[in-house]
Amino acid sequence: MKIDKICCIGAGYVGGPTMSVIAQKNPQIQVTVVDLNHERIAAWNDADLNKLPIYEPGLDKVVAEARNRNLFFSTDVEKAIDEADMIFISVNTPTKTYGKGKGQAADLKYIELCARQIAAIAKSDKIVVEKSTLPVRTAEALKSILDHTGNGVNFHVLSNPEFLAEGTAIQDLQKPDRILIGGENQEAIQALVDIYGAWVPTDRIITTNLWSSELSKLVANAFLAQRVSSINAISELCEVTGANVDEVARAIGMDSRIGSKFLRASVGFGGSCFQKDILNLVYIARSYNLYEVADYWEQVIMMNNHQKDRFADNIIKTLYNTVNGKNITLLGWAFKKDTNDTRESAAIYVADHLLDEEAFITVYDPKVTAEQIYKDLDYLGTRSPAENRRLVKVVNSPYQACEQAHAIAILTEWDEFKAYNWQQIYDKVFKPAFLFDGRGVLDGQQLMMQGFTIYGIGRC
Ligand code: UDX
Ligand code: UDX
Repeated sequence: MKIDKICCIGAGYVGGPTMSVIAQKNPQIQVTVVDLNHERIAAWNDADLNKLPIYEPGLDKVVAEARNRNLFFSTDVEKAIDEADMIFISVNTPTKTYGKGKGQAADLKYIELCARQIAAIAKSDKIVVEKSTLPVRTAEALKSILDHTGNGVNFHVLSNPEFLAEGTAIQDLQKPDRILIGGENQEAIQALVDIYGAWVPTDRIITTNLWSSELSKLVANAFLAQRVSSINAISELCEVTGANVDEVARAIGMDSRIGSKFLRASVGFGGSCFQKDILNLVYIARSYNLYEVADYWEQVIMMNNHQKDRFADNIIKTLYNTVNGKNITLLGWAFKKDTNDTRESAAIYVADHLLDEEAFITVYDPKVTAEQIYKDLDYLGTRSPAENRRLVKVVNSPYQACEQAHAIAILTEWDEFKAYNWQQIYDKVFKPAFLFDGRGVLDGQQLMMQGFTIYGIGRC
């Protein structure tokens, strides 16, 4: 099967960067990324590369190289589907907020809409690739819709989960640990292998059946999240026993069977995938009556919620059991550094907890807009939008953010936080100068010498 034209539905954090790199590495293939969101597409087409809708180091260069050569962003979904030989589905699959499986199962309505649209438009054979993270056996549903509502053309469904991490997406795409392709039709699989083969060594491209591929994505994220929850559980133990979690992480990480990555204790993991994928796994296990399996994985999320709660509780306890009317500065709102994505960020939950105690909060994040921060808080529905705006201030300068603070909390590990003039900040805050480092990024010893009272996760 020869692929001349690719279409990707969904110009988000996954679809945008992935298609940019596929287009960069396959200049002979025309790649069109479509989205229902006109504003988003306009931003992808903006001549000013600083205005791309997603902040990812290195993305601007890739877009600059391929855009309007063989990479196009458009809202004309029908035309792109009609012309494409291969269609990636990269729309979002949020956790259901209603009905059966509420709070756990993935909401597949966007996926189904895409399938119906593809079926209605397609006049020639197509390979349909699932890029979105999906519950196991979604491909079956996808295939059933395509085959029963299509115009008699052939559809081959492949699963090709994305393993890129935000903040390092371009690097992850250009040098992936592995590419995973699940499917049944060998020719269709080979067509996708060839696209990745343009830059990925073939021994890194693995092929499996559809279900193994779908499940592997959920399991990879569950294992990664489990490591964070495991080290976070140990961080609490370190705080009461006098051990240092960084030392423990280093000591265990040097065992090659354990490995050193993903052992950074933190205020809790966030991001669009970890929680959602574990909830998916838990939901699938329960639906097959595998209660022990479900409970086992659910604990990873419970530990993560506990970590966020206890971080906020510790701020309250340290500030003499009340933060009512006090100024708390949050440095960082994104769920990790080098991204403007805030989905499920620990900062949202820590802020919400402190706002429940009627604290005044000032936020500074180098890449997240005030609009997004208010949107995140409003989405929780804990208090009115007006109340969120009364209690929360978003500023553009870290120094301004810290002025007259009763406590400062670091919630994202942005590199720039290390380079601040902390003496200048110290001079402007209320004393004792409490500093809560939720990411272990600051030099605690040095700051203590400057007068700060520091609380670091996993250190006593
Ligand atoms: C991706 C994956 O698709 C998701 O399954 C995974 O778990 C996280 O990463 P992401 O790219 O991060 O999602 O989502 P998002 O940035 O929300 O982008 C999805 C885009 O799809 C949005 O721009 C949305 O407008 C678009 N969309 C959604 C459509 O174009 N059509 C639809 O029917 C639904
Ligand atoms: C994750 C997976 O890594 C990626 O393979 C998948 O495709 C999507 O989900 P992402 O969510 O973008 O990627 O970022 P990741 O680097 O995995 O971080 C997730 C969260 O865990 C962040 O909040 C991060 O701060 C936190 N984390 C990570 C820790 O708290 N400690 C660690 O040691 C590592």
